[in-house]
Amino acid sequence: MKQISMLDLKSEYEYMKQDIDSAIKRCLEHQKWIFGPEIGEFEEVTRAYIGVKHCIGVSSGTDALVLSLRALAIQRKGEEYFDRNDGIITTPFTFTATGDAILRAGATPVFVDIDPLTCNMDARKIKEYLISLRDLRSVRIVGILPVHLYGQACNMDEITAIAEEHDLFVLEDVAQAFGATWKGGKLGSFGSCGAFSFFPSKNLGGFGDAGMVATNDDAIAELVRMLLKHGGKDKYNVDHIGYNSRLDTLQAAVLLAKFKYIDEFNERRKQIARIYTEELSEVKGVSLPTAPTKSSLAANSPQIVPEHVFHQYTICTPRRDEIQSYLRENGISTMVYYPIPLHRMKVFEGRMETPGHLGNAERAVREVLSLPIEPLQSSEDTQHVAHTIRQFLGQ
Ligand SMILES: Cc1ncc(COP(=O)(O)O)c(C=O)c1O
Repeated sequence: MKQISMLDLKSEYEYMKQDIDSAIKRCLEHQKWIFGPEIGEFEEVTRAYIGVKHCIGVSSGTDALVLSLRALAIQRKGEEYFDRNDGIITTPFTFTATGDAILRAGATPVFVDIDPLTCNMDARKIKEYLISLRDLRSVRIVGILPVHLYGQACNMDEITAIAEEHDLFVLEDVAQAFGATWKGGKLGSFGSCGAFSFFPSKNLGGFGDAGMVATNDDAIAELVRMLLKHGGKDKYNVDHIGYNSRLDTLQAAVLLAKFKYIDEFNERRKQIARIYTEELSEVKGVSLPTAPTKSSLAANSPQIVPEHVFHQYTICTPRRDEIQSYLRENGISTMVYYPIPLHRMKVFEGRMETPGHLGNAERAVREVLSLPIEPLQSSEDTQHVAHTIRQFLGQ
């Protein structure tokens, strides 16, 4: 039986082998393993690509979030950490690291519900909660942490407007959305900072853990650069409680080689998504990823449709578990991102605020199913996945 996996990193390596092998060989020859030249080169190409003043390589997407939050605490409070009365609004429907980073920076995650169509944070809910929290007074909201889930932009017009009105910072979690845009601007360039992950399965993935912080704020950039190497400009005389969170030279070299292919690979992902959408659009009981249309976007800025880079192609269906089993029996891998919302996890018990009903997130964990979206996947394989779903549903 034909096997279709979620991702095929071996084929991707074969496709870029020459570039990757020569990048690694260069490292073997120069032997500059800590802060080697590839780090600055990678930071410069990504800085120009995202369109920000600074990109700073770090050791993972998780560290990119933690270091950004620590830098924001130092900048905004003059303290090393936030404290439990500082609330950061985020989504409960994300990878653990998003909420966990808030705890590690000393603050309280405030979970708001998601938009059932995009599974992204719902800006209207943020507004409602900010009004209701004024009465609660249990936490003082200091920032918003939107996650561009599955490679699709949150509504950055609304989120940045709310942030401005309430003097909040915005930290974008761009782990899943390298190359995606909101109305022509690259994600990660809208907030005070953007935190990227280069985990191997990401659209731009290293050969191990790696991440990056993007920012237009010189002071934040300087703080992140200090925090990632023990907390000081001079690591033998430090100012802040720091980390060893450097981006590895070898990872920077691999990422630099793979960066050449990012637009092509994101295009391939979009093409696969188009095939899934064509094949599944008439199927009853299955909802497909919803992209905002020109008419649904606010009229006050250029009407450029945001580009979804399909880190995942995620369908929603009440028959999720049965469909997943049937696909597995037919050699097709799928994944559930995510099976448990953050507000149900033990780590957040007694450490979070959930000011409203989180029904859409509760439903999403029961219904989402991510289909294989390997950029080198053939059209036939994509069609085969869609046909197998239709076969199961008898449609
Ligand atoms: C939404 C989100 N945030 C944060 C992370 C953490 O990134 P990393 O695994 O590189 O630490 C990931 C990915 O793993 C993610 O998907």
